[in-house]
Amino acid sequence: MTLVSYDPAARLWLLSTAGSSYAIRLDEDDVLRQVHWGRPLTLEQALTAAAVPAAAPGSSFDGITGEEYPAEGGARFGLPSLQLRHADGSRGVHWQYLGHGIETGAAAPEASPAVGEEGTRPCELTIRFRDRHYPLELDLHYRLRPSSEVLERRAVLRHTESESEPWGEPVRLLRMDAACWTLPPLPDYRLSHVTGGWSSEGRLRRTSIPVAETVLTSRRGITSHQANPWLMLDDGSATEDSGEVWSTALAWSGSWRITVQRAPEGVVSCTGGSGHEGLVVRLLPGDSWETPVFAGQYAQDGFGGASRAWHRHIADHVLPRAAELRPVLYNSWEATGFRVSEQNQLQLAAKAAELGVELFVMDDGWFGARRDDTAGLGDWTPSAEAFPDGLGPLVAEVRRLGMRFGLWVEPEMVNPDSDLYREHPDWVLRQPHRERSTLRNQLVLDLARPEVAAWAHARLDALVSEYAVNYLKWDMNRPFTDAGRPGHPDPDRLWFDHVHAVHALMARLRSDHPGLRIEACAGGGGRVDLGVLAHADSAWTSDNTDALDRIGIQHGYSQLYPARTMSAWVTDSPNPLTGRSLPLAFRFHVAMAGALGIGGDLRSWTEAELRQAADLVARYKRIRPVVQQGAQYRHRNAVQHVLGEESVLIAWQLPVPHGVPIPPLRLAALDPAARYRDQETGRLHEGALLLARGLDVRLDLGLTGDFSSTVVHLRREGG
Ligand code: DGJ
Repeated sequence: MTLVSYDPAARLWLLSTAGSSYAIRLDEDDVLRQVHWGRPLTLEQALTAAAVPAAAPGSSFDGITGEEYPAEGGARFGLPSLQLRHADGSRGVHWQYLGHGIETGAAAPEASPAVGEEGTRPCELTIRFRDRHYPLELDLHYRLRPSSEVLERRAVLRHTESESEPWGEPVRLLRMDAACWTLPPLPDYRLSHVTGGWSSEGRLRRTSIPVAETVLTSRRGITSHQANPWLMLDDGSATEDSGEVWSTALAWSGSWRITVQRAPEGVVSCTGGSGHEGLVVRLLPGDSWETPVFAGQYAQDGFGGASRAWHRHIADHVLPRAAELRPVLYNSWEATGFRVSEQNQLQLAAKAAELGVELFVMDDGWFGARRDDTAGLGDWTPSAEAFPDGLGPLVAEVRRLGMRFGLWVEPEMVNPDSDLYREHPDWVLRQPHRERSTLRNQLVLDLARPEVAAWAHARLDALVSEYAVNYLKWDMNRPFTDAGRPGHPDPDRLWFDHVHAVHALMARLRSDHPGLRIEACAGGGGRVDLGVLAHADSAWTSDNTDALDRIGIQHGYSQLYPARTMSAWVTDSPNPLTGRSLPLAFRFHVAMAGALGIGGDLRSWTEAELRQAADLVARYKRIRPVVQQGAQYRHRNAVQHVLGEESVLIAWQLPVPHGVPIPPLRLAALDPAARYRDQETGRLHEGALLLARGLDVRLDLGLTGDFSSTVVHLRREGG
């Protein structure tokens, strides 16, 4: 398949995936405009679309719209993707087209008109501009892969002058988004996104888009629980299974902003990138500034289709080790809190091993003077009180029990009451003459300072090496506040540099310790995004482990992120957060829709509960490849995964008033000509009937009471 085609006469590029086309062209003023984003087009068809003349401005009050990467300058009145101020006080840019390059795979980058690519290698189009007066260059990058529907866009800005030259002055970068995506004209527009808070992440919202600017953002230095940097747009008629959906997602783990603009003239676009409003960065002569990726994709098969395309992309092109099955883990947090000790961890490890757990993770409380959240953070040596002989005996026992060993860390943080802070009080983010707000009694370390990053690396590297740690749960329990660097000429850079430093630290540890796996966490799901998932294997979805609440949280999570990354624990009943009591099977089944873990206090589970839990863990291991690696279909009160000849349905029953009919559950993505055998009961089902009529919730699935639940594992006969 030709991923990128170019027509030199029209100066038009056509970017193609199997299911979509994206066309852009330069107009006579070197302004890059989008021609098409949607169903697949041939180059000829894209040229025809480009030949339609743009509507002339109706009055002197109208401005330039529909640009691919709008900047300030001239009659532009929409929100710019790029805003800057030159040293002489002039604002904005006036681009001149310099040329383009199409690079295939890792091969040489030289421009080759009308070339695309064959085979499976990625292809990257770069379109280059320079300012007509000031020493600035801009590269717009577009990356495609034959096996993905996702188009990855980013931008690079360069200050091309050297210090000795007349313009050798810094440029102030006021805003630089990664990309702006424009939608085709539709009768109406609807926005889908998630909102929430700590322990209530991922609430899916669908709202009509007002004729206004709608801002989705985090100003917290982390991705945030309150919003997640992706959105889906449709004309209001798309469903889970049908309709056109345009979606975008930002690969960034710090503050971010995506603005959806619905102009009074009707044009809808969304521009997005790292950082929140008001941050200013100095671009020095010779410097360049690179945005993260703001990716987009078009789907014709509804929200479910859009989600599956993101899941595939993340698995194939974002995650470091997507093909590896995620282990069943045990985590100590809800059982022992900060009060970990060698003895209580050994007790939990013994119980966990009996259940079939494969990875034992000791959470917060194992280091320094950390007996609660007031002290010790930053002192990454085992607490002598909790572990008189170090972690060695516990680690040895965990391994003897046949499990891998994981450890909780929070490397970006420090308690003022810690040896680290006493030694380096200047290592924290702070502003001159301002109070530093402690949240959860902790401050944020300025990880972008080389000496702080070197310290964090040395401590983590030593820990991982000494105990052959297999897994780090990497937490981050407060947003940035009062963030500054006294004396630094460019203090706002820390908002960006911190994120790069975290990603770099994760990457370095992984490359030095190939067996190491990382779970991304920020007080639950506060740091889940395509940026961190390039360095992590899973993400802690939420501190809310109530299985009923989790159904909604997981639904929101699944809109973009694949099940294999969704860390999900079974904990105690009543749930410590919500006080709700739920059956053990229900708690398991909900967690089995992701990467299963157990987080309850196993010492208080009855023998019968432990036996049932062991059975359910064994069951999970049988369905795990399908859940973790299959395509996911969301149904009402159920989720279905399909991989090759197998399909797994996890279904639950929520309270319904008496007399309200419960429709059968129709399955998806099966072969109507095939038969499927239930791997537990041996019952044979016709694929056609599973698709057309579905399974009766009471009779076939046996869901007869509130919070009853089931797992059905089907395998194609003769497959
Ligand atoms: C927040 C995490 O989300 C929890 O799972 C736990 O690790 C605590 N931090 C520990 O402080």
